[in-house]
Amino acid sequence: MITIKSAREIDVMRRANVIVAEVLQELRRVLRPGVTTLELDEIAEELTLKKNATPAFKGYQVAGRIYPRSLCASINDEIVHGIPSARALKEGDIIGLDYGVIYQGYYGDSAVTVGVGKVSEEAERLMRVTEQALYRGIEQLKDGERMGKLSSAIQHTAEDAGFSVVRSFVGHGIGRRLHEEPPVPNYGQPESGLRLRQGMVLAIEPMVNVGGYDVTIKEDGWTAVTQDGSLSAHFEHSVAITENGPYILSRL
Ligand code: MF3
Ligand code: CO
Repeated sequence: MITIKSAREIDVMRRANVIVAEVLQELRRVLRPGVTTLELDEIAEELTLKKNATPAFKGYQVAGRIYPRSLCASINDEIVHGIPSARALKEGDIIGLDYGVIYQGYYGDSAVTVGVGKVSEEAERLMRVTEQALYRGIEQLKDGERMGKLSSAIQHTAEDAGFSVVRSFVGHGIGRRLHEEPPVPNYGQPESGLRLRQGMVLAIEPMVNVGGYDVTIKEDGWTAVTQDGSLSAHFEHSVAITENGPYILSRL
């Protein structure tokens, strides 16, 4: 079922997503070579609790598996759902930071990919194109428009740059639950898909690879990596569809 949110609910979701954005901003500030992803996880958790919210991913179940940490930290060829560990970041790495909270019963969800110190030109371009794909998608959000317009805008932005778009993970509706209907694919035909309506809130999250789009899951049961070992980037915003078009809830 697709839930339509009232103005009051969108207001609460804005506050949830501002907390997510503030956490991501803090993580970017402390990011440097030598920092471990577990340290980032602890910082995220502490700041969340201080803001009277709860980490959304810790203890979250997908297909009977329980996610063990608050943050998803995905390095280089890791696409999403990298589990924080004692692994230290190195100069030149790129890291996807995906974070979510629950605030007053509503979820916030957002992700960025950032470089650690100086990164390769290709890595820079990948991150730039992936973020641009996200914004091109968001621009399509309008009452009465079809989902496929968003999907196709994202796909073409990535593919025109010579990259590929991951198929096996998609975005989602978000609200009182982290993953609600409808799925939000990052590929597809513009004339396809359901009609978007005012009051829908969508988490839009393109994952873009330098090489092919095929995915492998690591032995930990969570970490999704590119099958060909190529670099991957991920950006995500939670966005409400209003009468004035898209309202990016997770942008400060
Ligand atoms: N932003 C991701 C998503 O929307 C994070 C989920 S991680 C999980 O799917 F552990 F909570 F599943
Ligand atoms: Co999400």
